[in-house]
Amino acid sequence: MNRVHIKTYGCQMNERDSEAVAAMLRARGYRIVGSEDDCDILLLNTCSVRDAAEQKAIGKAGYASARRRRDPDFVLGILGCMAQNRGADLLERLPDVDLIVGTQKFHRVPEYLDNLRAAREAGVPIGQAIVETGPEEGSQNAIRDHVEGPGRQVCAFVSIQQGCDMNCSFCIVPRTRGDERSRPMDDIVRECEELAGRGVREVTLLGQIVTSYGRGGHPRPGGESPFVRLLERVHEIPGIERIRFTSPHPRGFRRDLAQAYSRLPKLGEHVHLPVQSGSNAVLRAMNRPYSRERYLEIVAMLRAARPAMAFSTDIIVGFPGETDDDFEQTRTLCEEVDYDMAYVFKYSVRTGTPAASMPGQVPDEERERRNQALLEVLRAGSLRRSTALVGTVQEVLVEGPDRTGARLTGRTRANRAVVFDGPAGLAGSLAAVAVSSASVSTLYGSLEPARGGLQSAACAASL
Ligand code: 5AD
Repeated sequence: MNRVHIKTYGCQMNERDSEAVAAMLRARGYRIVGSEDDCDILLLNTCSVRDAAEQKAIGKAGYASARRRRDPDFVLGILGCMAQNRGADLLERLPDVDLIVGTQKFHRVPEYLDNLRAAREAGVPIGQAIVETGPEEGSQNAIRDHVEGPGRQVCAFVSIQQGCDMNCSFCIVPRTRGDERSRPMDDIVRECEELAGRGVREVTLLGQIVTSYGRGGHPRPGGESPFVRLLERVHEIPGIERIRFTSPHPRGFRRDLAQAYSRLPKLGEHVHLPVQSGSNAVLRAMNRPYSRERYLEIVAMLRAARPAMAFSTDIIVGFPGETDDDFEQTRTLCEEVDYDMAYVFKYSVRTGTPAASMPGQVPDEERERRNQALLEVLRAGSLRRSTALVGTVQEVLVEGPDRTGARLTGRTRANRAVVFDGPAGLAGSLAAVAVSSASVSTLYGSLEPARGGLQSAACAASL
């Protein structure tokens, strides 16, 4: 009765938290299974960023509750952001849930499950749900273990910080994730070294606002930000070929970070830079401390450092008070930046945030219309940018078989997915792929025999 399935909703941070919980559970003798049909314990790691995400997890938990009522041995837990946001209130809708664990208590999950199981085995079920959503000092340091799978893992996520101090007026995250707390730099570097030792070639540094990493806590020799120092240290690790990070804040994108792209070839030509809106009036109402002009300046600065730089972003349409003209400014900004990819979200009211009580809430049909209009612009831009790569040779970090199992897949330095034919043994290496066709999000091609296997990021930078 120790088979655990963890279902994750939401962002890469949540994925990373789930992986760390899985690793901790494994170390305690639990088995992690890939299918919820085969599990004895179902843990839902949830997201609160939009109402739709909460409703999805609540729907799933309601469905799993039926099994919980039929099968007294089955354990159902809700973890993460929605657990933090709603706490014990969840029990009104979901009275059969056994465990509600907030974002600072992930590392306690094994202990709670042990207690639940021991109580049941002793025939004295606890009777009421365990609800743990308090703050815990140092909890950011608990997200460090990785699950070693049967195949070779080429790319890994590394959590460098938890929480957020930004207070964007639309956002629930400060409430669900707490204040910003960074992990010690030495711990992060050690984790990356261990991953490299296991064959990982690409690390993505994760945090709510990675550019704020270590603010206040680390010395700044020569004015360099702790985040840039961290990038330099990870860059020195042999075996790590590529470094990515998500998400930075435009406010934190200063000259030292832009210059890092000129010095550190392992930084890929891709930045995910959330803009949220192209209108200064809306940015102000969102409490985003930059202007459209400053954002475009950052884009220009990065393209000056790396002409092939690709950008992706997050955009909210239909923020309270957003006029047709504001929306038009977002549309033209998308054209100016020429994004490779963007996540477009319809504004979702989050109770307790300043935007929830702002005047000028935009009707859902209008939010949907703007959503579709923007997606169309972005789709056309993505296709144009990927089609422009047909005929080029790209450095691809090979991740392994594609979804069909017949071909290989990997990503370019600019984070485009590539599918091509080649031997499975190429996983983990850098390959030169000649691009012969492209869809909106994927490139297709063949190995470029003349270039052979690429050896290192240093030689790749000259491609
Ligand atoms: N409504 C819609 N989208 C939101 N996001 C955050 N809060 C909201 C909200 N209330 C989006 C932002 C953020 C991404 C992770 O989710 O674009 O960057």
